[in-house]
Amino acid sequence: MKGVILAGGTGSRLFPLTKITNKHLLPVFDRPMIFYPLECLVKAGIQDILIVTGGQHAGDFLKLLGNGKEFGLKHINYTYQEGEGGIAEALSLAEYFAGGDKICVVLGDNLVERNIGQAVEDFERQPSGAKILLKKVPDPERFGVPVFKGDRIVRIEEKPKQPKSSYAVTGIYFYDTRVFDIIKTLEPSERGELEITDVNNWYIERGEMTWHELEGWWTDAGTFRSLLKASNLVAETGANNL
Ligand code: G1P
Repeated sequence: MKGVILAGGTGSRLFPLTKITNKHLLPVFDRPMIFYPLECLVKAGIQDILIVTGGQHAGDFLKLLGNGKEFGLKHINYTYQEGEGGIAEALSLAEYFAGGDKICVVLGDNLVERNIGQAVEDFERQPSGAKILLKKVPDPERFGVPVFKGDRIVRIEEKPKQPKSSYAVTGIYFYDTRVFDIIKTLEPSERGELEITDVNNWYIERGEMTWHELEGWWTDAGTFRSLLKASNLVAETGANNL
């Protein structure tokens, strides 16, 4: 399985912090944010990794990470997203890199306490389809929220005003190679982006989505409060622990 980290966007919710740098280069406790998703993939056994970035400061990723030696890697792949097309559009840039393999996608502002190796192994064994990781949160309206019928997810609602469960769809996704053809069929949402939630709903409608509840804490770091929370959580327990 290959890994894709999505680290583009303008980070407008963190303005003015993101006026002179990319969101994913901001500090989370003692390291730049991008270190955490990268370490998450490496510790889960994924070595072949693509970073999708964009904007004015894309060159800084290369300066910071180089070929990934610090993470035990021999090489890191990079690609550049023009403009602001959303998560699914950023992911479409990974098609050539994926080359028909399954992928694990991590949003560059997502941090986890525990190693996700078990989910990676489970998806290796899953013949096809997709997999998402969920976490119970006090504020699901900020995220993609699954709607359940028993144990089965029947759809995901993106930032619903009245969430139908208390789970967030975290920014760690697993897809088979069809994901790239699915993205080509998407229409932009009201916020003018190709939504990853629409990709996930495609798999759900066909009964090809599995899910797994994350152990340990999970947080995004894309708002002032969640960025502070992420720093505090990392300071207390560290991230990506075995
Ligand atoms: C994105 C997804 C959302 C998901 C979240 C996880 O939201 O659209 O479904 O729950 O990431 O961090 P965004 O941060 O782009 O608003």
